[in-house]
Amino acid sequence: MEVIDVLQEASKRVFENVKNLAGTSDAAGDYGRGAGGDISRKIDIVAEKTVLDYFKEINFECIVLGEECGRVELSKNPRGFVIMDAIDGSANAVRGIPFFCCSLAFATDDKISSITDGVVTDLSSGDQYWASQGKGAFLNERKIHVQEKEPIYRIVGINMSGASPELVKRLQLIFKSHNHTRHFGANALEMAFFARGLFDIFIDWRDKIRIQDIAAGYLLIKEAGGLMLDANLKPLDSDLSYQTRLSFIAAANEKILHDVMSQVKK
Ligand code: IPD
Ligand code: CA
Repeated sequence: MEVIDVLQEASKRVFENVKNLAGTSDAAGDYGRGAGGDISRKIDIVAEKTVLDYFKEINFECIVLGEECGRVELSKNPRGFVIMDAIDGSANAVRGIPFFCCSLAFATDDKISSITDGVVTDLSSGDQYWASQGKGAFLNERKIHVQEKEPIYRIVGINMSGASPELVKRLQLIFKSHNHTRHFGANALEMAFFARGLFDIFIDWRDKIRIQDIAAGYLLIKEAGGLMLDANLKPLDSDLSYQTRLSFIAAANEKILHDVMSQVKK
């Protein structure tokens, strides 16, 4: 079985196991603080257990880096790391806002740039966005690509949840000009939307995002032809540690990157 098939099957099982849980009071059950630093909700725990149980069932030899469960060594002879955000957009999932997903990525080394496979499953619809290194990005069976034409409406995805007043000031012009700004509350799924060409640029400069929230989206965007850059506009990379918090910008091409950057205060 290829790694991508394993990740797809695992997240399909997550979809089956959480579809009747989202938006219920049961989903919110408090399980204490997870490895990523947030409160783990019952829906997060159910989703993570689904993935871990499946890996054990098929004896998938890896080290899991889960947002709630932390580092779980499933083998003494691992093939690599599975970076797991079993529920990205937990607040939406608990409240019943239909925008949350399961994000699973496989890396051969302790680096984002070593990610070879990624799957983001929309847990409201079951749609799967997936990519394998060098093979392109897909939505279910269909190949996807970042927006190539000049769009009728320019959609700027921008994560401002908990942004500092300084960041709000720096980005003020982006909000004031003719952009249409969007923020839906699940970074991995927003990155998948971007890879599919629904957003033209996506900015998260809060220095808050965890590896788990972006790992699969990173590969989707690169395989869909997009630019994945850090806050200094250099190619994004980092280690996979739990302490790492990132800022990034995903752009469909250099032109839009330049246009939007010219609206950012230095
Ligand atoms: C969160 C989502 C959200 C982002 C937060 C993340 P979680 O992930 O991606 O869009 O604003 O910074 O923590 O906690 O729901 O997995
Ligand atoms: Ca999560």
